[in-house]
Amino acid sequence: MPSIGPFEVSRQGFGAMGLSHSYGRAEDDASIATIHRAIALGITFFDTATGYGDGHNEQLLGRAIADRSEGLVIASKFVHRPGGRDGPLVTAAQAVDASLTRTGLDVIDLYYLHRIDPDIPVEESIGALGDLVAAGKIGAVGISEASADALRRAHATYPVAALQSEYSLWTRDVEAEILPTARELGIDFVAYSPLGRGFLAGAAPTEADDRRRLHPRFQPDAIAANSRRRATTEAVADRLGATPAQVSLAWVLSKQVVPIPGTRHIAHLESNWAANDLTLDAATIAELEATFTPGSTVGERYPAEALKLVPPEPVHA
Ligand SMILES: NC(=O)c1ccc[n+]([C@@H]2O[C@H](COP(=O)([O-])OP(=O)(O)OC[C@H]3O[C@@H](n4cnc5c(N)ncnc54)[C@H](OP(=O)(O)O)[C@@H]3O)[C@@H](O)[C@H]2O)c1
Repeated sequence: MPSIGPFEVSRQGFGAMGLSHSYGRAEDDASIATIHRAIALGITFFDTATGYGDGHNEQLLGRAIADRSEGLVIASKFVHRPGGRDGPLVTAAQAVDASLTRTGLDVIDLYYLHRIDPDIPVEESIGALGDLVAAGKIGAVGISEASADALRRAHATYPVAALQSEYSLWTRDVEAEILPTARELGIDFVAYSPLGRGFLAGAAPTEADDRRRLHPRFQPDAIAANSRRRATTEAVADRLGATPAQVSLAWVLSKQVVPIPGTRHIAHLESNWAANDLTLDAATIAELEATFTPGSTVGERYPAEALKLVPPEPVHA
């Protein structure tokens, strides 16, 4: 079983974001049934954030696990805000109290800084999270989308248990510097959007308010260009008697990181979980990597404003 900081977790976690927003409508009762099925399958690591659906996601996860949280590792994230720029001041202490109330938990096992704020030094945010460990409100400190330099500075301030960044066949940017730095520092790596926000599983936005419609990679020209390379995952999947989603997840799993795929559907959940049993040999990994070379995906991975808050942008003072 892999570890994330002090916690043993299942090989795959469950990303709950899409149960509240981003990828089309979700229905709470169906979402709770999906979370219950995830627990029954053996998934012990659940990922949410204060920002997902403005608190809805933390509340939903809390409802779903209220009578079965034993043995689970719950991760959430907060956005540290200095106040003034994009709304009121948000401190780590305020954020975690709200997260505890919404989830109904006594402790949030792993609490990440969701993005480094341009006006708040990373040391200040991570120091504040360290104080929350001392206060017994969180179990361990995480950070999301840090550059290698920011990760070093954060870890020098307070031991960082986990780095969560985007990592999948079509988003391999972390391989150059960030993942090696996390390994060097002994920081465990959580791979978010391991299915390329559904693209690698063949999913596409259908509803008008789907956030992917704002993403450069999901614009029609980019989809057309990127789809040509998806043929490789389809060919590998055919050969192995698997699905493209399973091949994509098996590739992430081969990197000794913990992916947290998200889904609203029990059938997708079960199929994704079965990727644990799919081992790719070195030749297949090389074949996939020769197609999905780092940086070759057409279109940036976030819209312009959001892109300013993730590496390789300078990640702030
Ligand atoms: N730290 C951060 O800044 C950050 C950013 C983004 C996400 N995250 C976390 O990472 C988690 C996962 O990332 P993600 O949800 O963005 O992307 P993902 O897991 O790469 O893909 C999710 C999408 O793929 C579809 N899908 C999943 N399994 C499928 C299957 N077997 N066949 C067909 N379609 C399938 C889902 O639709 P269906 O519902 O129809 O299955 C959904 O639209 C999130 O839930 C969140 O917890 C963190």
